[in-house]
Amino acid sequence: MTLNVSPITLGTSGLGRDTVPGSPGEEAAVAFARELFAGPHAFVDTSNNYAGGRSEAVLGLAIAQVDAAAADPLEPGAGTRVISKVDCEPGTGVFDRERVLRSFDETTARLGVDRLPLLHLHDPYTVTFDEAMGRGGAVEGLIELRESGRVDGIGVAAGPVPLMARYVATDVFDAVLVHNRFTLVDQSAAVVFADARERGMTVFNAAPFGAGILATGAREGAVYGYRPASAELQEWVSRAEGVCASFGVALPAVALHYSLRSPLVDSTVVGVSSTRRLAQLDELLATTIPDEVWAEIEALGPAPSPVDDSDYA
Ligand SMILES: NC(=O)c1ccc[n+]([C@@H]2O[C@H](COP(=O)([O-])OP(=O)(O)OC[C@H]3O[C@@H](n4cnc5c(N)ncnc54)[C@H](OP(=O)(O)O)[C@@H]3O)[C@@H](O)[C@H]2O)c1
Repeated sequence: MTLNVSPITLGTSGLGRDTVPGSPGEEAAVAFARELFAGPHAFVDTSNNYAGGRSEAVLGLAIAQVDAAAADPLEPGAGTRVISKVDCEPGTGVFDRERVLRSFDETTARLGVDRLPLLHLHDPYTVTFDEAMGRGGAVEGLIELRESGRVDGIGVAAGPVPLMARYVATDVFDAVLVHNRFTLVDQSAAVVFADARERGMTVFNAAPFGAGILATGAREGAVYGYRPASAELQEWVSRAEGVCASFGVALPAVALHYSLRSPLVDSTVVGVSSTRRLAQLDELLATTIPDEVWAEIEALGPAPSPVDDSDYA
């Protein structure tokens, strides 16, 4: 399966969070979601459990509005541009074949679609690798969905590199997504991405800003990979900001282009939470990064990455 991804995939993990159905808050979230489909980026990334299901629900309302307003009813609907993920059952953590099929049904109902271009196994942490891959396991459910034509491709989306390496090596998946592990701060996913590319898989690199500090710069309360950044990391990021400033470019632009320029990455998944952030993304994309920046960033030495995947080794 070849997915025609664009360099950027728009991430919606926070979309619709805390909105109530039918409320003005939901309406605003839907209006923003419509903007995601108006731009040039091929796909929107969501998941069954993002914002407790509200991300998909808001996307579903936006898809209906976009399709109703479409000039050409023969054009593929906005729903063909959404990638989602199956999640374990909330509360129990059950993540087997049946749960995968239920998760897919919930997703398609919320989105108002029959099928999906790509469906990832999301954060399979409540089951072992062997359980997920075994008889009656989550991956069996995904394969069934692909075989029945309800999804074009299946992927695996999570963090820990040793775990991702095992899933990629099964050769079962069409795509892989790893987050926070291929950035200016941490490059540990490079080996998994290289293997996935060799196997002909589509590679998504999510969270190029480390979900924080590479967008905000060093500052009190800055985070990397959803955890507070250490003093050492703050210091390294300050020095990186200095390098960027000396070339007249912003740190987030360099952080984004680090992923965009890599031959290992097909699409970079960037979290967008507002119209302002979408506009900022356009500016970052349009920034030309002088070649010398890369060598000077490298000369800072490796960043003290807080990512620790040793539990999965
Ligand atoms: N396991 C998985 O499958 C997995 C895991 C992680 C991520 N993902 C996907 O990847 C997407 C991206 O991940 P992410 O959103 O966590 O990380 P990210 O794209 O690295 O960073 C987004 C964060 O950066 C901030 N930001 C962006 N531009 C900024 C700017 N100009 N100034 C200040 N702050 C800025 C945003 O703040 P605001 O909130 O204020 O906009 C947001 O908190 C997710 O939405 C999801 O679709 C998947």
